[in-house]
Amino acid sequence: MTEKPILKALAGQVSDVPPIWLMRQAGRYLPEYREVRKQAGSFVDLCLNPEMAAEVTLQPIRRFEMDGAILFSDILIVPYGLGQPLKFVEGRGPVLEPVRDRAALSSLDPSAVSNRVGNVYETVSRVREALPAETTLIGFSGSPWTVITYMVEGGSSKDYAATKQWAYSDPEGFQELIDIVVEGTIIYLLGQAKAGAEVLKLFDSWAGVLSPRLFRMAVIEPTKKIVSAVKTAYPDLPVIGFPRAAGANYLDYIAETGVDAVAVDTAMPIRWAVENIQTRMPIQGNLDPIALLSGGKGLDEEVKSILDAAASGPFIFNLGHGILPTTPIAHVEQLLRQVRRK
Ligand code: CP3
Repeated sequence: MTEKPILKALAGQVSDVPPIWLMRQAGRYLPEYREVRKQAGSFVDLCLNPEMAAEVTLQPIRRFEMDGAILFSDILIVPYGLGQPLKFVEGRGPVLEPVRDRAALSSLDPSAVSNRVGNVYETVSRVREALPAETTLIGFSGSPWTVITYMVEGGSSKDYAATKQWAYSDPEGFQELIDIVVEGTIIYLLGQAKAGAEVLKLFDSWAGVLSPRLFRMAVIEPTKKIVSAVKTAYPDLPVIGFPRAAGANYLDYIAETGVDAVAVDTAMPIRWAVENIQTRMPIQGNLDPIALLSGGKGLDEEVKSILDAAASGPFIFNLGHGILPTTPIAHVEQLLRQVRRK
């Protein structure tokens, strides 16, 4: 039986003190991250440099003794691996050469993924070797829908209009794009699992903007395929899904995709998640990143209400979305004291 608190929670066990890690826990709010970032060159270079990526993965473990280490990479490494040009522009975020129609699909090659981004697997094995015995190594990828929005829009977007229009106007072509991304994602996740990832998480940050039909096509069906491929190769490897802001769609998602647990976003009432999801599988979440940024009594109250509602069932404490770069480190320490009752 494992002694790792996150693996225990994912197996359905309840503990006095819930395990905790934070989405984007390696990042710009840490001075030691900014130091490595300065030396790394581009952000993609950092993601593909096993020594530096392993170092930044381990930084929040050393500083806070988080129960989980999340691989340092990015969800857009899969499009990069498929052959789509990608760069991160200071102050603007990711920039990709947009894939807008069926003709552009021939430039994407799932069989190229492991060659182009195989360095990430090396990061995984380095981190696994360096981790304390009680810390769980979490690998991840984006989910096809969220990744595809960046591939089609060419970067971040407010309304995902080009992506959705493609899905509505040419569903067969759009399905081909989904299939390519599913294939690349499976290769990428299996590479991480083989290198030592103990849990895999699928980030579907923009799952909350889809009509029920598109949700089925672009979230449920592709997620089901990915989970099934992972489970065929690694039957005991837990998969956490994060269909962020999907509201009532979480119910079909947990019933149909095969995930072992779900991350819950900030807007979902934690009591609803406890009653409707935690009765069926472990949940993770859902502190507002802005409450953490804000600190003080407001933070204490938010944390207490989450612990009171969810910690008596299988539960992993986390944010409802990624930590913000301006978050004071002292607030993370305050959060950890409260969750660990120290
Ligand atoms: O610590 C961790 O959680 C592991 C690493 C991680 C990063 N991105 C590092 C990163 C993870 C799990 C992600 C996931 C990710 N990336 C998501 C899904 C989760 C979410 O937050 O919704 C998304 C949508 C992306 C795409 C992405 N990456 C954007 C839009 C940006 C630019 C915006 C920004 O915050 O600058 C990134 C860049 C990025 N990914 C940074 C980090 C630490 C910042 C870049 C830098 O340090 O220069």
